[in-house]
Amino acid sequence: MLRLDTRFLPDFPQAFKEHGPLLLQAREALLAKRKDPQSMLGWMDLPEDTETLRRIRRYREANPWVEDFVLLGIGGSALGPKALESAFNESGVRFHYVDHVEPEPVLRLLRGLDPRKTLVNAVSKSGATAETLAALLVFLNWLRENLGEDWRRHLVLTTDPRRGALRALAEKEGLEAFSIPDNVGGRFSVLSPVGLLPLAFAGMDLEALLMGARKANELALAPLEENLPLKTALLQHLHRHLPITVFMVYSERLKYLPAWFVQLHDESLGKRDGEGNRVGTTAVPALGPQDQHAQVQLFREGPLDKLIVLVVPERPTEDLTLPQVEGLTEAAYLFGKGLFQLLKAEAEATYQALAEAGQRVYTLYLSEVSPYAVGWLLQHLMWQTAFLGELWGVNAFDQPGVELGKRLTFALLGRPGYGS
Ligand code: PA5
Repeated sequence: MLRLDTRFLPDFPQAFKEHGPLLLQAREALLAKRKDPQSMLGWMDLPEDTETLRRIRRYREANPWVEDFVLLGIGGSALGPKALESAFNESGVRFHYVDHVEPEPVLRLLRGLDPRKTLVNAVSKSGATAETLAALLVFLNWLRENLGEDWRRHLVLTTDPRRGALRALAEKEGLEAFSIPDNVGGRFSVLSPVGLLPLAFAGMDLEALLMGARKANELALAPLEENLPLKTALLQHLHRHLPITVFMVYSERLKYLPAWFVQLHDESLGKRDGEGNRVGTTAVPALGPQDQHAQVQLFREGPLDKLIVLVVPERPTEDLTLPQVEGLTEAAYLFGKGLFQLLKAEAEATYQALAEAGQRVYTLYLSEVSPYAVGWLLQHLMWQTAFLGELWGVNAFDQPGVELGKRLTFALLGRPGYGS
């Protein structure tokens, strides 16, 4: 369950009424693009794809020997699985993410792994990302050197259904490979095999995850009054004059979720619109309560240049009662309280303190940190982003701004066709 609280934005209900026609128009424009096979709107259909889920389950069951899972991928090919796996890993399988190109941590990882118990999953939609290809070279070589002919069983690829270097490798070597649908882009791919395959090895309840995402779909298509993604899109839209949108999550289990959201928001919406204007707001990640001891000072007394979004669970899935300890009278006010009660009180206090300071702030309450609620939240945020793309007149599904950096890297490394 996902619940929106705008109690400190008393002007919002009226604004929502007034902007109704604009919001409906934005939704209509977005949904009209679904008919276009080139539109990158396939993420809307992923929660319904039970066939892929079945295939992933079969693959997971056929490979019970895996103790270490190494994901080679970057950006949208890593942030989603990482955010969910770190929250819901109950299988005992250890996960490692090579979403960087720093040699020392790669070497440290290789030294600690037993190749006979390791599954390597290279993930790249394009099959052309330098960081992922570099990691694949290293790990492919390591598997071959250590396992001889058996190396193929230890490498699984997640990539485009037809194109790119990973697909070609899978075909040449007869490797197991899962497809990212043509019309699904990196940062919208967490509910495709990009996320589902690693999460199957993490033992996550994938049915519940997808069921939550289907609930977000239902609300995105619902009439205006019940339409949660249109409401939060409007909140972002009304505050687009504030350069920063803080995404502050009160859950240690969801500590990597802000990084996933930052990519989704910034890479989708920081663009030139149809008239060449620069648009977008900068998403800033924050974690509660840790950042109460870091960023909240700035949020309270620094510039009023932010829209702050708190994501707060309403109840724990398990709680811990704080014991009474003799000699620690300073902590007596905590004796007998649930640890979650403290978390909840801190989130509420931050909410009130930020509003009191004059910051614009709203809260999204998650019923609890469960696969269902988090699946709902992720898909909700994808809808919010897609609606904002329409409202801001930008294509939320491309990333022309990162291309130049890629081309310059290729030129520096002497890739044919990219010389000066
Ligand atoms: O959202 C995106 O499309 C990007 O962030 C990609 O996920 C990232 O660049 C990695 O691309 P690829 O999956 O093609 O390796």
